Amino acid sequence: MRKKVIAGNWKMNMLPDETINFIKEFTPLVKDTENEVILCVPYTDLFYALLNAQDTNIKIGAQNMHFEESGAYTGEVSGKMLKSIGVEYVIIGHSERRQYFAETDETVNKKLKAAFTYGLKPIVCVGETLEEREQGKTIDVITRQTRLALEGLTNEQVKNTIIAYEPIWAIGTGKTATADDANDSVKKIREEVAKIYGNDVAECVIIQYGGSVKSSNARELFTKSDIDGGLVGGASLKPEEFSKIVNF
Ligand code: PGA
Repeated sequence: MRKKVIAGNWKMNMLPDETINFIKEFTPLVKDTENEVILCVPYTDLFYALLNAQDTNIKIGAQNMHFEESGAYTGEVSGKMLKSIGVEYVIIGHSERRQYFAETDETVNKKLKAAFTYGLKPIVCVGETLEEREQGKTIDVITRQTRLALEGLTNEQVKNTIIAYEPIWAIGTGKTATADDANDSVKKIREEVAKIYGNDVAECVIIQYGGSVKSSNARELFTKSDIDGGLVGGASLKPEEFSKIVNF
């Protein structure tokens, strides 16, 4: 049985004092869950989040990293740096990074490899645009993104990769894929992993759904056969709302 993994993606929101207050309020609300709970916070909140989540079941992640270890990359943060302060997870290839920051399948793949080099657990995002969906290209797009992201990883690394299926048209729009649609896409991603790395590996891979997840639709989505939890943006900014999603 795969575990359910619920990750909050705070994006460019929350200051350190808000982070501290959030974790204080959130911790007792999720302390009894068997699901994995992750908060992916801005770089400037990481240290505060790590300190305040110590001795809780809340794991902390970053939202991006560079693939090189160090060097002349002004403004970038490496996997080694994240690991050095105790960060456990990192989001890679979020559609907003692909769209606004020129992230490509190639850089996503490099970052994924680097995440494993430095002992971070990656959450890699794939998903189609509305245009691609309307042209019937959803499955092509998401299986290609999955294949290219995972290229060159060992079976063991693939098993430890979390994939987030996030249809871009559903992110921050209030539009959610229907649970059946989302489950079908997630299944296709798992089949693609199975084709390349075998069934054993594919059955271990956690595949989340993301895109306008809220407490009112979490249960329906997360109880589908292939959806192993969610990557949650807007609704992860409020402790009570996010705790309801975690405890779906
Ligand atoms: P949303 O964002 O839940 O606000 O739609 C999800 C995401 O971008 O990870």
